[in-house]
Amino acid sequence: MYSAISKSAPLLARGPSFSTTSMASISRITVIGGGQMGSGIAQVAATHKHEVTLVDVSQEALDRGKAYMAKSLKRVAKKKHAEDEAAQSQFVAEIMSRVSLSTKPQEAVSRADLVIEAIVENLKVKQDLFAQLSKAAPQQAILASNTSSLPIGKIAELLDSQRKQRFIGLHFFNPVPQMKLVEVVRTKEADQEVVDSAVAWVKAIGKAPAVCKDTPGFIVNRLLLPYMMEAIRLLERDVASAQDIDTAMKLGAGYPMGPFELCDYVGLDTIKFIVDGWHKDGEGLKGNPLFASSTKLDELVKQGRLGVKSGKGFYDY
Ligand code: 3HC
Repeated sequence: MYSAISKSAPLLARGPSFSTTSMASISRITVIGGGQMGSGIAQVAATHKHEVTLVDVSQEALDRGKAYMAKSLKRVAKKKHAEDEAAQSQFVAEIMSRVSLSTKPQEAVSRADLVIEAIVENLKVKQDLFAQLSKAAPQQAILASNTSSLPIGKIAELLDSQRKQRFIGLHFFNPVPQMKLVEVVRTKEADQEVVDSAVAWVKAIGKAPAVCKDTPGFIVNRLLLPYMMEAIRLLERDVASAQDIDTAMKLGAGYPMGPFELCDYVGLDTIKFIVDGWHKDGEGLKGNPLFASSTKLDELVKQGRLGVKSGKGFYDY
């Protein structure tokens, strides 16, 4: 069982199995990608007193990321300092003051202890990004990807063996400020010390780590995606309406969202991208009927009904 560690506990008091150098060294974080996931990760790290640089390709994208963070922090501030607007503003400003914005990835990683990539789910783009970053990041830096479905080992393929030893997956969940879990994904090449440091860092930012091997979907998505696809197939077979299936799973299984609410929340294009990729050539999953395409899902994506982000999905928003 995960046992929570006091946020104020000194880093070195967090367990005997971590080397002091690596534990103490993770304080400067660079997050590449200012979308919902990247800005959420930046926000959580800054909330836990880390110095964070958020990187994206344009100032416009960075401004969007900053706006996501400010909105989410205001929500937290309102609960923390109810009826004290000055304290709320101060809380938000103090955390935001630890986040710098940059459009220059190489410069932004040059002093980083930990680099987390949360950009588009495209293997080649990620491989090229890390090849570029590895020229500029300190040798001791831990490099990590927040990919939800691509193999971590493949993302690191262009790197030399030393970098591969310090390369892992750190998979956060949406909404990042609220969801407690981070999957720490260990490749065959990753050093145990790097995995231990990542686990300690995850705890230091108030999250719960779950370590797993580099296999498609890791733990959560490997279980969630078949569940979502089976729900879509129930709908296709006209077993019940989306509303009734959602109600059933919320009230009968205690899930916070039903499968269709969750599909809309995650994004139908994202779900389609993941299952198509696994069905085509996922390690051990190729041709698995659990991930076969669904007419319903394909149609919705084709119509641009991508879920909450596009205003329409299984439901209208
Ligand atoms: N920032 C800060 N706080 C937030 C937040 C955000 N973006 N979103 C929600 N919260 C907080 C709220 O302030 C509230 O806090 P409180 O309990 O202290 O008052 C709490 O979360 C609950 O929020 P709401 O009352 O607004 O709404 P709900 O009770 O319906 O909860 C939810 C919303 C947390 C999203 C909940 O429905 C949930 O847990 N849903 C399941 C989400 C899930 O499964 N995520 C994983 C998706 S898979 C994934 O990300 C992997 C990827 O690789 C595909």
